Amino acid sequence: MKIELHELSPDPDRFQVEVCQGLKRSQKELPSKYLYDERGSQLFEQICTLEEYYPTRTEAQIMAAHIEEMAELLGPGVLLLDYGSGSSAKARLLLDHLRDPAAYLPIDISREHLLRAAVELARDYPELEVRPIHADYTGAFELPPFKRVPTRRVAYYPGSTIGNFDPLPAEQFLERVAKVCGPGGALLIGIDLVKDPTILHRAYNDSQGVNAAFNLNLLRRINRELGADFELEQFKHYACYNPRERRVEMHLVSQQDQSVHLNGMTIHFEQGESIWTESSYKYTLERFAEVAGAAGFSIEQAWFDKRRWFSILYCRVQGA
Ligand code: AVI
Repeated sequence: MKIELHELSPDPDRFQVEVCQGLKRSQKELPSKYLYDERGSQLFEQICTLEEYYPTRTEAQIMAAHIEEMAELLGPGVLLLDYGSGSSAKARLLLDHLRDPAAYLPIDISREHLLRAAVELARDYPELEVRPIHADYTGAFELPPFKRVPTRRVAYYPGSTIGNFDPLPAEQFLERVAKVCGPGGALLIGIDLVKDPTILHRAYNDSQGVNAAFNLNLLRRINRELGADFELEQFKHYACYNPRERRVEMHLVSQQDQSVHLNGMTIHFEQGESIWTESSYKYTLERFAEVAGAAGFSIEQAWFDKRRWFSILYCRVQGA
């Protein structure tokens, strides 16, 4: 089956610009979306299988328990937009239960991953139109043309990836999603809930060091793609929960005073200084309702696991 890729690949210079800008700040930082090169995507999938990393498993349990009800709410003939689709594994359960979906549009920044998943999906769902979009979905992007007129557009955003946005960008992102879905549209989203920090600490500091490898891979990517000379052994993974901000912060901490060269720039690190590589916000339902409401969505249904660690929400575009 031939798959047509809708290519909206981000400007290749953007990576360099954002890395240089981030490393010049007094608190050095790197955008977490760059954690997902080919190797980073594989490592993230490995994290999802870890005993300590509860979100994937918990979300899957909620999906399995309520899939009929979810499919019923989404209704027949939907166009399903899968934001950050990765291997498309999560969408399969939905596609198995949806009534006559009009098309499936997986959107991801990791090109090879996206293509591979789309080919496999098109093979397994021969009736379904599959139109992969290679794009940085955190910004605005155009949809490709598709054959059938759908009854409605539904965005699927599982995995609590919304937690990787700071509050204002989260709202702005959801606002763009609401625009893409339009009148009658909806959003099915997974959010990770506020919980005992010990559980969070374990999830982001696993015993096998996969979170650490995932974090450090960002420096390897910068070395490879931008010709920098980070010495990976001189940086250490550090993740901690900040209860006031309700977020897990992931950092790479310099093990000594050192200098790194990148694009004619020399970046100095003091021993103990960090690069902030990711935030993972944990929500209360009330807080998420505020963010979603400001973006133009109303929460219509919420499903939880028994321990109330995670929630999947069905949100409708307001005024539709
Ligand atoms: C993709 N995202 C929801 C993950 C998270 O939990 O914030 C990424 C991750 N970072 C470290 N481990 C997993």
